[in-house]
Amino acid sequence: MTDIELVELAKKAMENAYVPYSKFKVGAALLDKNGDVHLGCNIENAAYGATNCAERTALFSAVAKGIKEFEKIAVVASSGDYASPCGICRQVLFEFMPDGKVILDSNEKGMKVFTARELLPFGFSSADLK
Ligand code: THU
Repeated sequence: MTDIELVELAKKAMENAYVPYSKFKVGAALLDKNGDVHLGCNIENAAYGATNCAERTALFSAVAKGIKEFEKIAVVASSGDYASPCGICRQVLFEFMPDGKVILDSNEKGMKVFTARELLPFGFSSADLK
């Protein structure tokens, strides 16, 4: 699956975003090591802190199915500009796919690609639990 194809799937996933508060839709498409794709959208809550970002929705949905090895994730936002993953999502991405690719797409500026490790320098991991 190409990065462009994954971005297109993230755009489809964005349609399900539940965003009555921010009106800012985010979609994510996560490719696992078996070649299957897991979709995620942001899901907001009247208690704002209970909101779940699109990236974590995709990751947690996959992990709930028993899948823990991932290759890359594409993320898009309804603004058409980049959706830069929040700090919590960077930590969760770092847990499951530290060297996986994070593809951020902007309609006008194109794709930016990072590893989760690049997005979370000196990140905390299970190796630190000693
Ligand atoms: N959001 C995401 O889902 N992913 C990001 O990468 C950035 C922010 C969501 C959370 C909230 O529903 C809305 O965008 C505005 O912050």
